[in-house]
Amino acid sequence: MLKLTAKALACAAALSFAGLIQADESPIIIKFAHVVAEHTPKGQGALLFKKMAEERLPGKVRVEVYPNSSLFGDGKEMEALMLGDVHMLAPSLAKFEHYAKAIQIFDLPFLFDDMAAVDRFQQGPQGQALLKSMESKGITGLAYWHNGMKQLSSNKPLYEPKDARGLKFRVQSSAVLDEQFKALRAAPRKMSFAEVYQGLQTGVVNGTENTWSNYESQKVHEVQKYMTASDHGLIDYMVITNTKFWNGLPTDIRTELDAVLAEVSVEVNRQAAELNERSRQTIVEAGTTEIIPLTPEQRAKWRDAMRPVWKKFEDEIGADLIEAAEQANQVGVPGA
Ligand code: LMR
Repeated sequence: MLKLTAKALACAAALSFAGLIQADESPIIIKFAHVVAEHTPKGQGALLFKKMAEERLPGKVRVEVYPNSSLFGDGKEMEALMLGDVHMLAPSLAKFEHYAKAIQIFDLPFLFDDMAAVDRFQQGPQGQALLKSMESKGITGLAYWHNGMKQLSSNKPLYEPKDARGLKFRVQSSAVLDEQFKALRAAPRKMSFAEVYQGLQTGVVNGTENTWSNYESQKVHEVQKYMTASDHGLIDYMVITNTKFWNGLPTDIRTELDAVLAEVSVEVNRQAAELNERSRQTIVEAGTTEIIPLTPEQRAKWRDAMRPVWKKFEDEIGADLIEAAEQANQVGVPGA
């Protein structure tokens, strides 16, 4: 009996090797984890990727999406990716400083005028090179997905930098963002995304910075009386994978997934502004938070207060890279 089984197995293996039968008919499982709600730009992007990948590769690929830090929170997800416990992530660009210092460029306050400039830089040669900058660490960047510009929130009104003095602000795990709040003489506190609501509610922090869609979906407007429309920085993502996993996929499957991801990225980036505007409207309608618009003079004061941060990170990021990013504020730059 044992002999027969062994013989059958050997025969199957030989046939399989010859490409005559598929050894394993089960689909390749791709676990895609993220920390935000499903109705945000990233949440929608992950679901669209699942839908299109499964439609184009029926029976061959199954994408499991885990939103809201339900599989891994932002403190653990990169480690999990390197261990192969999750296959795709889309962390905020503020969360890569331990893997590639140059990616800190996206945290520099008041660097990009708007998301169109971010897009021009990312699609240009320097932005594309950053996608590959972590391969020696086993991480491959596949695409950039936009969320939007960051706004400040607080339990007191913030019109000018001096209003932030002494307040505690939640920041993502980023040295640049830490320094940005120190430049205001405020106290930054690193905290994972899943802890933000509670941190604000209990007063562990007095304020934070994020996009309208992240505020609305985390119900930050329930626990913050004021939001300042500052557009002082951005939340943007790199869709990443485990290099070994991705390169180990059968070529036809990887090629199709790359094509799907390119289409999904266009769609995510097209919809991001609209989703943020919808969220801003929801916050306005909730009536719990006052949204403070800034005059050009007030905004210039925030810019002057935060800009010295650039100099501190110039060596780590590279002066040339910062210059290229500034150039992307001009329409007509390569990659636009
Ligand atoms: C944050 O931690 O504020 C953001 O990175 C969350 C996200 O992924 O949009």
